[in-house]
Amino acid sequence: MSSKPRILVTRRWPEAVERVLAERFDGVLNESDVPMSADQLAKALRGFDAVLPTVSDRLPASLFDGGDIRAKILGNYGVGYNHIDVAAAKAANIAVTNTPGVLTDCTADIAMTLLLAVARRAGEGERQIRAGEWTGWRPTHMIGSKVTGKTLGIIGFGRIGKAMAKRCHFGFDMEVVFYNRSRVDAAEAARYGARQLGTVDEVLAIADFVSLHCPGGGENRHLINAERLAMMKKGAYLVNTARGDVVDEPALIEALKNGVIKGAGLDVFEAEPNVPEGLRALENVVLLPHLGSATEETRVAMGMKVVDNITAFFEGREPPDRVA
Ligand code: DGY
Repeated sequence: MSSKPRILVTRRWPEAVERVLAERFDGVLNESDVPMSADQLAKALRGFDAVLPTVSDRLPASLFDGGDIRAKILGNYGVGYNHIDVAAAKAANIAVTNTPGVLTDCTADIAMTLLLAVARRAGEGERQIRAGEWTGWRPTHMIGSKVTGKTLGIIGFGRIGKAMAKRCHFGFDMEVVFYNRSRVDAAEAARYGARQLGTVDEVLAIADFVSLHCPGGGENRHLINAERLAMMKKGAYLVNTARGDVVDEPALIEALKNGVIKGAGLDVFEAEPNVPEGLRALENVVLLPHLGSATEETRVAMGMKVVDNITAFFEGREPPDRVA
């Protein structure tokens, strides 16, 4: 790199990563950590060589309109990038990278946490104790559903889907079936104790737990709608650690209220950080504030991946995690 590229980081990142960025680049950090407006992001694209956004930013096609763009790369902090109009970025000659691999285990751990918490009513129990309402052990108190030995249905058998399959099959003796857009080699699926089915609907029909691990946006928007919720078993649970828009939230609220399914564990929402009152009011749902990758190890590793991607790019090498 001859002179240091000018970069903008849209949110606070782990200190260790911000230090490396400050050494290698002419960086502007968002010390206030207040999410940037569309206007600020549009200006950033025109004033910096690299913009490093994340899931709380929105970069629709309109931001790239009108030319005058200086940015050559968007180094996204996160594996999901459906908040970026990648086609528009590409048309504006901007490369896009993400951070796969380093958040697989922690995201699968959160999916497992939600699955166990909703089945065993852990959120309800916690709330009861904190409210001083627990009257003591009794044989009929807060009865949940057994997890061990049940059937897990996975939608999207990428890295995180596989990690979830592994946990459930080898840790909880579960039968694991999955839907994936492309064919997965049966021997590869078997390594995770899993078996591929032909359609989403087939998975929904037999699963006691359905865990979503597909990307958001596009054809996956509202993949789980009223019709599909009705295809699930009456006693089944839905877990979403993928993207909020994969689930039609009003339809889910109705299904949870009317006993169409038994419960849900959600780490992601359609309009984060707004979580519908209809969901917050329900007991049979466990709600987390998008914590999938939120461990010190993972958040640092995500940042270092962005550093590697933009370093490679500005040194004229292919960024390891280029998606466009
Ligand atoms: C991702 O990486 O896409 C997560 O949702 C944010 O950590």
